[in-house]
Amino acid sequence: MHRTTCPLPDTARWIASPMVGAAAAGSPAPYFRKAFVIASRPTRAVLHITALGVFEAEINGARVGDEVFAPGWTEYRKRITCRSYDVTTMLREGENALGAIVGDGWAVGHIADKNRQHYSDRPKLLALLEIACADGDTVTVRTDGTWLTAAGAVVASDMLQGESHDARLDPGPWSEPGFSADGWVPALECEAPDAEISPQIGPSVRRQEILAATLASGLERPEWQSPLRVFDLGQNITGRVRLRVSGRRGTTLKIRHAEVLNANGTLYTSNLRTARATDYYTLRGGGLEEWEPRFTFHGFRYFEISWQGRREDIGELSAEGVVLHSHMARTGEFSCSNPLLNQLAHNILWGQKGNFLDIPTDCPQRDERLGWTGDAQAFIRTAAFFMDIREFFQKWLLTMRDSQGPDGAIPPTVPHTGSFGLPQDGGPAWADAAFICPWVLYRHYGDEQILRDHYECMVRYMEYLKANKVQDGIRCHPAKDGWGGFGDWLALDGSGRIEGGTPKDLIGTAFYAHNAAILADAAEVIGRPEDAASWRALRDVIVAAFRRRFVTPEGLMASGTQTAYVLALHFGLLDEAQRATAFAELIRDIERRGYHIATGFVGTPYILHVLEAGGRTDVAYKLLEQETFPSWLFPVKNGATTIWERWDGWTPEMGFQDPGMNSFNHYAYGAVGDWMVSTVAGIEPAEPGFRRILFKPRPGGSITSASASLVTPHGKSAIAWSLDRGTLSVSVEVPANTVAVFSAPPRFAPHRDQLGPGRHRFELASV
Ligand code: BGC
Repeated sequence: MHRTTCPLPDTARWIASPMVGAAAAGSPAPYFRKAFVIASRPTRAVLHITALGVFEAEINGARVGDEVFAPGWTEYRKRITCRSYDVTTMLREGENALGAIVGDGWAVGHIADKNRQHYSDRPKLLALLEIACADGDTVTVRTDGTWLTAAGAVVASDMLQGESHDARLDPGPWSEPGFSADGWVPALECEAPDAEISPQIGPSVRRQEILAATLASGLERPEWQSPLRVFDLGQNITGRVRLRVSGRRGTTLKIRHAEVLNANGTLYTSNLRTARATDYYTLRGGGLEEWEPRFTFHGFRYFEISWQGRREDIGELSAEGVVLHSHMARTGEFSCSNPLLNQLAHNILWGQKGNFLDIPTDCPQRDERLGWTGDAQAFIRTAAFFMDIREFFQKWLLTMRDSQGPDGAIPPTVPHTGSFGLPQDGGPAWADAAFICPWVLYRHYGDEQILRDHYECMVRYMEYLKANKVQDGIRCHPAKDGWGGFGDWLALDGSGRIEGGTPKDLIGTAFYAHNAAILADAAEVIGRPEDAASWRALRDVIVAAFRRRFVTPEGLMASGTQTAYVLALHFGLLDEAQRATAFAELIRDIERRGYHIATGFVGTPYILHVLEAGGRTDVAYKLLEQETFPSWLFPVKNGATTIWERWDGWTPEMGFQDPGMNSFNHYAYGAVGDWMVSTVAGIEPAEPGFRRILFKPRPGGSITSASASLVTPHGKSAIAWSLDRGTLSVSVEVPANTVAVFSAPPRFAPHRDQLGPGRHRFELASV
């Protein structure tokens, strides 16, 4: 991470090419260059650079850095982040050149349902190169109207539609000093966008893995008009295809992408909606050519390469998958004796890889790919186990603060794009990411600053609710709020998109109480006890309103859905007497459904925790290990390699769900990973930042052994257990400067010893 101050705005001018596209039609990615002379040896040189669009910079013919999609996506109307690279070794005494190609990216290209040009009519560049020389001189190169610009080989680039590259148009050594820039024209100086230019925060997107592709079986069929091949990566990824190809100059390869195949082996692309997700590469000819798009990404497992012309126009052709995501260290590993659950953990991890691309997105494939707040809060606890997400989320929470409305509303997506005609407020469980995400980060990393930074944002949102959404203590009271949010999105009990199911005001009020609880705890942590007391008092008022409206004195709820009971129990909204009835009702519903889940995005993250807290870990395991629809393992049994958006994304009876909304890489239901780690393996923070670790394995279901390891802020911790003829053998690893507590499963001899740093092994007999 680079934390430098960014001198860009004062000293350099924004520049652009005269080429400009339209609302629907793009224009080629502009190349920019500037040649300059350094009179003596450079001793230190720093390039500060950013763009509206996504850039790749070059100095003297070499790429600067290895970042993909810099400068990333922020609330561009408020903040654009810059990159600062030490480029000392790339420069030399004498003639030099600096250049950049700028693709459309999020600022200029299509985003979700929006036309192009959402933030800027064309790509724009801002750069400053400061060079200290051996003779004591300083050379400064800054973007201005003396730079030259031209179109090149990147004929079109768009995050959703794809990229077209014509290798015949490659300008050659365009970022080298001796290059003759015939036909290049002066860049236009343009007005600076009204946004703060601030240093980069959060990790960059990088190429993370390369996956081999195999030719999918039975393809290259005679009935297909043009030569065509379908490849399989064996894994649904976010990224793009890298080609090696030789063939006749001017032949254009067309590369289409899909997550799944139709029964006849062709690509299933209806679920991409308006995202064309198609790349084109036109050959230069005369030998082996290698190409990977620069400024686009796709969500896919399969890809199809075809070309107009004769089969023989292409000689060698091979391809591989380049996996892109934000660069985050891998911190957690999970495995257990049920291989289907191991595949589920794998799918959860790949859901995270595929959707942590600069911002936490809902999905990487269709015309959406937005920072949906509801999805992020559902998944964040699980995400914090698998990878170090601290800086990734700190960046996103800063963007959330930038996206917050003047009235305090938190939008459904961050950055706020106003997509799909949605309101300014994200509503229950979506906007509430403003509370849940910072709290989870604090719990996992122990960093109070995260709460300090976000406190005001949370307070402003509570004030927004009070002023706009709450009546008689009820949030989303129908008398006050005709919309009420997304409900228990995609639940199978009639919630979410369909009317019925868990009432939106019930969900709204439950989360309102939860927000107040988080705020009270956060206020305590950051040393504001009076605030804490008033948030607690507010919570009491909300809880009373919740009971009055939604719960009978005995504990039956106004809505009998799993999610209604789960929220009331998990957020502690019921009194002692009501709890037992509510819990019994929840169990009854699960049993009635033959141990199948019916929750949507809202209830799913909590249901297994609630079952465990109520002493029915056995039922939790039945849901977790359920293989028939609807369940977590149903997609696994049907070959999923990522988490599906919907429980019924595909069923044998119905085939594919409505293509209008059917992603095969949506992480929200992967929220179950948190329970697998904390309860199946048995590791969680007992104090923020894992200063104290709780080892709490709860063997159950078919599981006879499990293990997990986690790199905590203090070092690696791990647990492995196995169960053999009534004896539980446990080994744990406790990092330096921490202590751990071991909590024995109910049927085993109590063992609550404090464990100091180091490795410990012990056995417990069942009683
Ligand atoms: C997205 C979600 C999102 C939802 C809002 C969908 O189109 O893909 O994951 O949370 O809209 O309910």
